[in-house]
Amino acid sequence: MSMNTTARQAAERCGAAFNSAVAASAISAAWELGLLDELKRGAPLDITAFSDQHDLHRGSLQAILFALSSLEIVDLDDGRDVAKPGPSFGEVYRCKAFFFWLTRGYGDLFTNLASSSRNANRTDGFIRRDPYAISLAARDAGRLFIDPLLVSIVDRLSFGKIADLGCGSGEHLIRMAIGRPELCGVGIDIAPAALSLAERAIANAGLTSRIRLLEADASALAPTPDLTDVDLITCFFMGHDFWPRQRCVHALQQIRIAFPNATHFLLGDTYRSTGVPASRLPVFTLGFEVAHAVMGQHVPTLEEWLGVFEEGGWACTEQHLLDVPPFTGLFCLSPR
Ligand SMILES: C[S@@+](CC[C@H](N)C(=O)[O-])C[C@H]1O[C@@H](n2cnc3c(N)ncnc32)[C@H](O)[C@@H]1O
Repeated sequence: MSMNTTARQAAERCGAAFNSAVAASAISAAWELGLLDELKRGAPLDITAFSDQHDLHRGSLQAILFALSSLEIVDLDDGRDVAKPGPSFGEVYRCKAFFFWLTRGYGDLFTNLASSSRNANRTDGFIRRDPYAISLAARDAGRLFIDPLLVSIVDRLSFGKIADLGCGSGEHLIRMAIGRPELCGVGIDIAPAALSLAERAIANAGLTSRIRLLEADASALAPTPDLTDVDLITCFFMGHDFWPRQRCVHALQQIRIAFPNATHFLLGDTYRSTGVPASRLPVFTLGFEVAHAVMGQHVPTLEEWLGVFEEGGWACTEQHLLDVPPFTGLFCLSPR
């Protein structure tokens, strides 16, 4: 007996949801194992040669690529020996960081969604996220989506010392320092795992003498000699950690006090979506909002962000809204 259209559509959606969950993990793994970068080079990927070269289990690689083929991210031959980029490859490659963020950075949270919803389990440290993986994801997304805009903004500014709040991998500081031989920087992050990633990257770039790292809560900084001569503050993909509102107002005021000579503060963050039904949300948004809701973290809307700067002691002189990551804004702030 043939299914009616509604039942068939429901079955297709159900299958697509299941396959997407598998494919999301496969995208992360393919990036982490170097498969995506190898495919990006354009030559057909010989799976046996790749697994031999990198000491990887061939069957696992075939399975990962098979999962990618379910969304036409790769074309796989019948024997599963050779893979080539498929029609969805370019977009998935561009957005790979979001999958890595979801499955590696917040994998534990999504695995334990039910247990985290029980009040009895919501005790200190009940959420385990992977700051190292989150920093790697943010670094890739920053390079692709933030940097082009950022370069056009900072090229107009004059500054000698920069502080990056929630610096993660240190990528933004490194990029700023390369090509500006006079520039000094300080990276501030609360997570030791992120700071060790940053420390290695800064050393590899030969910038240890110019970029210092500080383990601290960026919302509760005290003025120190190292911070008072900073003239440019940046903060990407962490501002929502300052919320709820009164806490954010206080954090912004505290940042003004800790950096008395800062003339510019560039704050870029993803805000809460409005006006788009869940079924039509683009990549990243659903995961970002679900994860933060489960963590009990308020993600402000664009309007909420725009309504907090003045009270926090800053004037928003420019705002730039990005298409990717969706619902993301870059706010140029100056002391009031
Ligand atoms: C999503 S990552 C973004 C990293 C980096 N800004 C980037 O764009 O690549 C957020 C970072 O903010 C850090 N973070 C979160 N809350 C913080 C706080 N209150 N003070 C300092 N760092 C914080 C996290 O440890 C993490 O490294």
